[in-house]
Amino acid sequence: MTDPLDGALAGRVILVTGASRGIGQAVARACAAAGATVVAAARNVRELEAFADAVEDAGQPAPVLLPINLEAASADDYATIAGHLDERFGRLDGLALIAGALGELSPLPIYDAVTWARVFQVNVHSALLLTQACWPLLRASEHGRLVVTLAEEAFAAKPNWGAYAASKAALRAMFEMWAAEVANDPALRVGAVVPGPLRTRLRLNAFPALDPARLAVPEIIAPAYVELLGAAARNGTVWRQAA
Ligand SMILES: NC(=O)c1ccc[n+]([C@@H]2O[C@H](COP(=O)([O-])OP(=O)(O)OC[C@H]3O[C@@H](n4cnc5c(N)ncnc54)[C@H](OP(=O)(O)O)[C@@H]3O)[C@@H](O)[C@H]2O)c1
Repeated sequence: MTDPLDGALAGRVILVTGASRGIGQAVARACAAAGATVVAAARNVRELEAFADAVEDAGQPAPVLLPINLEAASADDYATIAGHLDERFGRLDGLALIAGALGELSPLPIYDAVTWARVFQVNVHSALLLTQACWPLLRASEHGRLVVTLAEEAFAAKPNWGAYAASKAALRAMFEMWAAEVANDPALRVGAVVPGPLRTRLRLNAFPALDPARLAVPEIIAPAYVELLGAAARNGTVWRQAA
């Protein structure tokens, strides 16, 4: 049977953050399978290299590996990355912001301030800075796509979700602004994915008592990202997985 996403991203250059595991890795694999050259970003180099081996073994376009700590990277670092992408490709067709930090689950009055700042650095500030640096490259594409990863906590914050809920709500506001700001631009489109509960390290860290076997695998959400990165994506789409 032919995969409907086969070739959907042929020739595109897509940067995926969080590509070392979980949802990001599933999306990176799906993008490569759909014909894209993936720029795979995360800290864990070994996992990135294993991803590259799997993609190349499958005869898909060789990915570019981008080891980066989003907690520590500065605007200058993002400018350097964008400069390299410009030299190599002259454009970026898609940016999938998937990396995420959970922080701790604890009440606001005692929430650790350092953890709060680290979560915001990964979930919010790096998303802004990386997107700003890549913006001219997305504009240089005939079909620049930005896809952010939200969470149900961005829409309804429950007690103890602390910096995770607050940062995802901030990212949701950024998504809405990005989508509104490109509304009159025929080339750029911005989308958001709200994954349901999936079998990843982040989810199991949040709910250690969960039986992983009862959670769906992250691969099930990858087609939503491929669609939002593709030619037919509609600006402002929020793709929400049923819980
Ligand atoms: N799983 C769910 O049920 C669920 C539900 C709703 C939303 N989400 C969202 O989905 C996204 C992916 O999460 P996941 O569930 O797939 O979790 P995961 O398996 O723990 O993956 C998190 C990814 O983020 C990267 N990352 C974290 N901190 C980073 C840092 N400082 N610098 C660079 N990369 C960093 C990790 O890479 P390294 O450790 O290699 O750096 C990893 O690739 C997150 O935004 C999360 O909020 C997940």
